[in-house]
Order: sequence, then structure tokens, then C-alpha cells
Amino acid sequence: MSKVRVAVVGCGSISKHRHIPEYAAHENVELVAFVDPIIERAELYAAKHGGKAFADFETMLAEIKPDAVSVCTPNALHAPMSIAAAKAGAHVLVEKPMAVTDEEAEAMIEAAKQNGVHLMVGQNQRFMPPHVKAKQVLKSGILGKVLTFRTSFGHPGPDGWSVDGANSWFFRKQEAIMGAMGDLGVHKSDLMRWMLDDEVSEVAGFVGTLDKKGTEVDDNASCLLRMKSGAIGTLVASWTYYKGEDNSTILWCENGVMKIGTHPDDQVIVELRNGTVEKHKVGAISTNDKQETSGVINAFLESILTNTTPAVSGEDGRASLKVILCAFESQETGKFISVN
Ligand SMILES: NC(=O)c1ccc[n+]([C@@H]2O[C@H](COP(=O)([O-])OP(=O)(O)OC[C@H]3O[C@@H](n4cnc5c(N)ncnc54)[C@H](O)[C@@H]3O)[C@@H](O)[C@H]2O)c1
Repeated sequence: MSKVRVAVVGCGSISKHRHIPEYAAHENVELVAFVDPIIERAELYAAKHGGKAFADFETMLAEIKPDAVSVCTPNALHAPMSIAAAKAGAHVLVEKPMAVTDEEAEAMIEAAKQNGVHLMVGQNQRFMPPHVKAKQVLKSGILGKVLTFRTSFGHPGPDGWSVDGANSWFFRKQEAIMGAMGDLGVHKSDLMRWMLDDEVSEVAGFVGTLDKKGTEVDDNASCLLRMKSGAIGTLVASWTYYKGEDNSTILWCENGVMKIGTHPDDQVIVELRNGTVEKHKVGAISTNDKQETSGVINAFLESILTNTTPAVSGEDGRASLKVILCAFESQETGKFISVN
């Protein structure tokens, strides 16, 4: 089988920790190009993995004509770069949030369709073993219907993560557009849609900037979600959990409760009303300090190699983004927003 020629654009932290090593570990991949305006970052990976370093994305597309591109740049660049890559005939794996407006997300989906390429969104929460297990438990029916839930993602902020630290694009409005809500909230809107096999029907959100110094974007959000099934719950995103990082989800159901990521050793705990307790040790949820293999890159390659729809499609990314955009709209208008 001929190898998939992959280019990585944006050589910051997510590329370093997940995309580049996971491509490098895949037997059907040849890393052919790395792109970053800070060319030393691209050169570092080209020296390590082969391929060529570029400062400019369009130049790379024209010269290298890659089969596939990973878009790992600041949020505002996701849509224009994904569309340019699709037009150049490359399959696209774009990091979350897939875009910064719904119109952009729609245009990305259309560009992929028009050019006969796959578009996948890096919503990696779906691939984490505790979440996969939790979905299995829900599907087994032992818990009955989900009635209410809370899901949260909070950590000390991207200053401890981004390759540019406190000077990161994450804090600049023009490049990030959204803060904690776009960065972390979208992980959880995607998780709830996927895990519950349901869609969000209505959102209310308080989104604000409470404490992070030097940020032009939000650092905290607390939202209420109503699902189409009728379940209601809360979604929280925060860049100011300076202590007590939280990436957990709890589902209260007809027959009991499921706790995901609340205990360091037992990642999924099911407590039934009949007194039964099941504890599952299934592997950790990734944290900024301790990265786990994402599964996203393998799933993207699988869709290319088997010519099948990616595990997280453009439509999925768009629906998960929409929930977040509705939370901002709720904050602005003071109203509950229907997600159409
Ligand atoms: N799926 C996840 O769990 C996850 C985790 C972290 C980040 N992300 C996403 O990945 C994306 C990148 O985040 P990061 O954490 O790697 O950020 P980062 O700040 O560490 O790196 C961003 C890199 O992009 C480069 N860049 C800026 N403009 C560019 C351009 N025009 N062309 C090429 N490169 C350019 C910067 O120089 C920098 O090296 C973001 O959208 C973020 O939301 C996803």
C-alpha cells in the first residue's frame, strides 16, 4: 500500500504532543512537510522526521501537493486553511473548534465535498477509553434513560500549554475569537452529543473573563443544556482551575449514576439504585501534563485508507461548535437559545 503523504501546519504543542508522534508511529504515513511562520519550529520536525520545512502554507500546498493535511493553527485560521487544503485535493484533519462561525464550518464541509476529500475534526474526547466505556455502559441499558448530567473541563489555562506560553495566540481575540469556551467547552459539547447519541436543543450560557491576566477572550463559562431527548444538564469550561483540574462527567439516570473521570484509578464508576457498584479501570483521560495517545490520527488515516467517512465528520464538528456559539449568543442576549 502506498503511503499517505502528510503535511502538518502549525508546529506548536498539539502537533508536538499528538499529531507528529502519532503520524510518525503509523506505518502507512510519510511526513512530507511541516509549516510554521516561526520556521525553526518547522525545521526541527523536518530534521527529525524528514520532509521539508515551510514558513507559508500556500507555498507548501503548491510545492508538495500533500495527500493529507493536519491543521493545528490558531482557531481563526482553521477554516481558511482547511478550505485551501481541500481545494488543493488534500484530506483534512482540523483541530477543534473546527471553525469560529457556523458559516465557516458549512463552507469547510462544502469544500471537502466539492473536492472529494475527507474532512475530520480533532474532537478527541470521544476516543478516550473512559468515554468509550461509558458509552458502552449507556448502550447496555442498565442505567436506563439519562435524566440529568454535569460535564466540565477546567485547567489552569493555555499559558501552561501553548508553545508561546503567556504570549500565546490563545489570549488574542483576533486569532482565538473564543477563549475557554471554544478551547474546552467544545470538547464537552461534542462529548455529550456523542455519548448520549442525542443533540442539544437549547442552551443558556454565562460566559465571562474573571481572572486570567492579559486575555482578550473568555476564561470561564457555565452553561445549561437541554437535549432533544429531554435530558438537562450543565457544561462548564474554565481556564482558572489553578488547582483541581477537572475533566469529569457525571450522568444521573433512571437506575443509578455513572461517574466518569472522578477517581484517579477507577475511571468509570457505575452505582445502581439496587446497590450494585461497578468500577472500571480502563485507562486515564488525557491531561495537559500527561498526554495519552489521542486515537484521532489513527481514525483519520483509517478513513483515508479505507475511503470511509471519518469518525468525527465535518457535520459532527459543526454541530458541536454550534452549541458553543449559542452559549455566546445567550450571554450576549440574556436569552435561552434554540440550537437549530
Ligand atoms: N484536541 C485537543 O485536545 C487540543 C489540545 C490543544 C490544542 N488544540 C487545538 O490545536 C490548535 C493549535 O493549538 P496548540 O495548542 O498547538 O497551539 P500553540 O500555541 O502551541 O501552537 C500554535 C502554532 O501555530 C503556529 N502558527 C501561527 N500562525 C500560523 C500560520 N499562519 N501557519 C502555520 N503555523 C502558524 C504558531 O507559530 C505556533 O507554533 C488550536 O486550534 C487548539 O484549539 C487541540
